[in-house]
Amino acid sequence: MVSEGQYRVVMQIRGSISFEESGSGPLAVFVHGYPLDHRLWLDQLEALSDIRHCVAPDLPGFGSSQPLGMFTMETVADSIAAFVGNEQADVVALSMGGYVALALWERHPEVVRSLALLDTKAGADTPEAREGRSAQAAQVAEQGTGSLVEGMTRALLAPQAGGDAKRRLAEMIEATTPQAVIAALQAMAGRRDRTEVLSTIDVPAAVLVGALDTLTPPTVAVEMATRIPNATVSVIPGAGHLTPIEAPDDVSALLRHFFAR
Ligand code: MLT
Repeated sequence: MVSEGQYRVVMQIRGSISFEESGSGPLAVFVHGYPLDHRLWLDQLEALSDIRHCVAPDLPGFGSSQPLGMFTMETVADSIAAFVGNEQADVVALSMGGYVALALWERHPEVVRSLALLDTKAGADTPEAREGRSAQAAQVAEQGTGSLVEGMTRALLAPQAGGDAKRRLAEMIEATTPQAVIAALQAMAGRRDRTEVLSTIDVPAAVLVGALDTLTPPTVAVEMATRIPNATVSVIPGAGHLTPIEAPDDVSALLRHFFAR
């Protein structure tokens, strides 16, 4: 528990972006993945509030944020840069959030103090992955986002994930609109390969991955980390793709250590 006054979380709106925040100190921005919202990071907002001003936005169209006219990794990165404004942030990003973070680094490096990339990759979609995205978009258009819960629970969480992680994942998926899901699927399918961007990262960088992540497995994370100058890589035992809710204490401890560097 944090003592009263040290920790505060309030849902707020800046421009078209809604967010929760905690703590004080240097700014850290937490970027969620697909098809989630800022609640992915609630444990980290609490655990790191004594060393950072932690801010977790809902990406455009997700959670309570307004949608963008066009959702691409670039337009979302631009909206995060506008959200950060004249400050610099430690950017902590998971999966699709990582795709956005690499676009942010490429387009607005001046707002990035450090990069923590969780369960993500730099490459573009394969043709098979694009077909899978089209099928998922068709499913959501017909049956709604609730129809994703069962399959995504299997795909995103380790088999031993606890009931709390499962409940939190289902709540986030069910709260996401079909429009946001479809826009994100199209954007991810069309995103650029940013492998060549990795070698340009000259701020402190950490790569974190669940040992049981089958979407962006540890081999992919290690390969990505080797391309980033001086990046560290940590493999989190027992966790799948959603490390912040599957292994919240491990993720918070690793970020605390990274921020102290
Ligand atoms: C995510 O967790 O953001 C997605 O699984 C990323 C993806 O589907 O490529």
